[in-house]
Amino acid sequence: METNGKPDRTPSPHLPFGDQRSAPFYGKDILSVRQFSREDLAYIFGVAHEMREMVARVGTFDLLKGKILANLFYEPSTRTSSSFTAAMERLGGSVIPINEVKYSSVSKGESLPDTVRTLECYADVIVLRHPEVGASAEAANYARKPIINAGDGVGEHPTQALLDLFTILEELGEADGLTVTMLGDLKYGRTVHSLARLLSLYDVKLNYVSPEILRMPPEILAEVGAQDIPQTETRRLEDVLAATDVLYVTRVQKERFEDLADYEKVRGLYVITPETLAQAKERMILMHPLPRVGEISMEVDDDPRAAYFRQMEYGLYIRMALLAMVLGKA
Ligand code: CP
Repeated sequence: METNGKPDRTPSPHLPFGDQRSAPFYGKDILSVRQFSREDLAYIFGVAHEMREMVARVGTFDLLKGKILANLFYEPSTRTSSSFTAAMERLGGSVIPINEVKYSSVSKGESLPDTVRTLECYADVIVLRHPEVGASAEAANYARKPIINAGDGVGEHPTQALLDLFTILEELGEADGLTVTMLGDLKYGRTVHSLARLLSLYDVKLNYVSPEILRMPPEILAEVGAQDIPQTETRRLEDVLAATDVLYVTRVQKERFEDLADYEKVRGLYVITPETLAQAKERMILMHPLPRVGEISMEVDDDPRAAYFRQMEYGLYIRMALLAMVLGKA
């Protein structure tokens, strides 16, 4: 794995574990999918598999007993926050939850660097969600403990992309050769920014379906294009649906619009219904990072291709794997 600018964290021989030196992610921040190679991904998914088996066999175990996670969320979250909490608790560790920063000293004007320097006095790893692009990288510059980016504004959501790719591999067996169609808010949706970058490590074709004002940002098109990945942009799902293996639907991110009149113009443009799936491959999977606010009809939920609830469960195993890895236990 490439370093991400953190100071060297070669463990002291006085640290309590004997195995950290050989753990490739020990002490590392997880800030962007750009830090991963295919080899790294295979390693992460291997650990996630082991976590899945352990949860099925014993539910909770003591791999991270005595370790503490600070869950620092400046923006709302259900899945990311609760799955990191569940991941830490299933590994025998504990959690400092700061899910509502208005009840913390942030509301008194405390800076992000001071907040992370405070939390690392009490915790071994910090999971951070923040509305500003680059906030996790900034936090990582100040923190001695690992920072895991749980979403930085419209920037990245790397742990979501890891669980998304894990879902694709678990459900379809491989990523190479697939056509992945991303639909909805590709401008503000950080999950698709991370997923497009991550998939560019594989031999995939990417389709982007959105209204004009919500197109994939040019810098991501350029990055993915530099990996020789074929990319198609269209406003019409029907142009690409029949050839799609993974349909990844996103919510229009109302909270990111400066002018709500623009939001009103594009909300509800795409709704996946049983009629949509009738035009899709039998082996396609339908994914969504969730929450959904109308983009996928509930009538679709019982279709075996609807993978979005299974996708959330895969996230637990990925986040267990990441916590174990950055804390030197995998
Ligand atoms: N997918 C996702 O990030 O969901 P939450 O906002 O609920 O964490």
